[in-house]
Amino acid sequence: MRVLGIESSCDECAAAVVEDGRTILSDIVASQVPFHADYQGVVPELASRMHAEWIYTVAKRALDQAGTRAADLDGIAVTVMPGLLGSLLVGLSFAKGLAWSLGLPFIGVNHILAHLYAPRLDTASPPDYPFLGLVVSGGHSIICRVEDFDRIEILGTTIDDAAGEAFDKVSKHYGFGYPGGAAIDALAATGDETAFAFPKPTLNKGQRRYDLSYSGLKTAAIRQLEQYRRPGAVVSKENIAASFRKAAIDILADRLLKAAEDTGLTTIVAAGGVAANSYLRSLLGSKKELDVRFPALSLCGDNGAMVAGIGCKYLERGEHSGFDLNVSARVPLYRSFGRKEA
Ligand code: KG4
Ligand code: ZN
Repeated sequence: MRVLGIESSCDECAAAVVEDGRTILSDIVASQVPFHADYQGVVPELASRMHAEWIYTVAKRALDQAGTRAADLDGIAVTVMPGLLGSLLVGLSFAKGLAWSLGLPFIGVNHILAHLYAPRLDTASPPDYPFLGLVVSGGHSIICRVEDFDRIEILGTTIDDAAGEAFDKVSKHYGFGYPGGAAIDALAATGDETAFAFPKPTLNKGQRRYDLSYSGLKTAAIRQLEQYRRPGAVVSKENIAASFRKAAIDILADRLLKAAEDTGLTTIVAAGGVAANSYLRSLLGSKKELDVRFPALSLCGDNGAMVAGIGCKYLERGEHSGFDLNVSARVPLYRSFGRKEA
């Protein structure tokens, strides 16, 4: 089954063709990063307009690169939640138009589930369900038990900023570059991670056991630097970046490893833009008792392949969406759905 996947939930205009939910035949990602860089953040109005301009060319390139005619597709998958409404609407409307004109089934998919599907692509040994999932991006920080491609149970989420958002805000404050995650990661490579002892959130009990919080760390990193400076430590951008990166990632790893211990799940899948973080990759990768899977770097950020891949699974089951399908900025159930008392 050959599926075209369309992703336009934020600032990546992406399309890909995937076969049988596993093999990537093409993967085109047109990033809007340079256009939002002046604003140090994604401007929703600009994003949706650019998607409207680019979506046809991006989809056409994905088909060409895959050597597939649109008429030879078996279906179309498109991200419909969560994300920026205007941007999502461009992708959905394009997918509907294409599906209607070709008489193809189409399916709307959840971006979070699509990120968790990414490590199943182009691999001979996909992770077995159930596994522990970590979805960390600019808009989400979720620790969940993943039962199947379409079923997750939320164990913890952030109570304030998302992990990627914290990277972006700290980077913006210091002018380290945009987007912040990759800029801080690069600077941190030559910094001293012990220069600043930033505070850790203390959400360790009961229901909040796996929850995350970044506002305290963010404030400490941008406003109270001196307070957390180790005696003798040099205030340099590399040292700020390295200490912040360590503190931000240690929060994630701490919660995740706690969840692994409590649930007994030994396979972990880390997905989303922050999963590209080199310190996170080496920290989790060093846990030999766990089978930690990271998607290829090209599949960590937003892409159409993960959308096509998961879409294929729904279409294989005979499921598809109706032409009255709409988009949603949020996934409201995520805050309470399946939350367990720990
Ligand atoms: O998944 P993604 O491409 O888009 C969203 O759905 O948000 O994630 C983007 C986020 C941004 O906040 C970016 O700063 C962060 O991922 N990011 C990183 C790294 N590369 C991207 N954060 C930490 N370290 C990185 N190497
Ligand atoms: Zn994403």
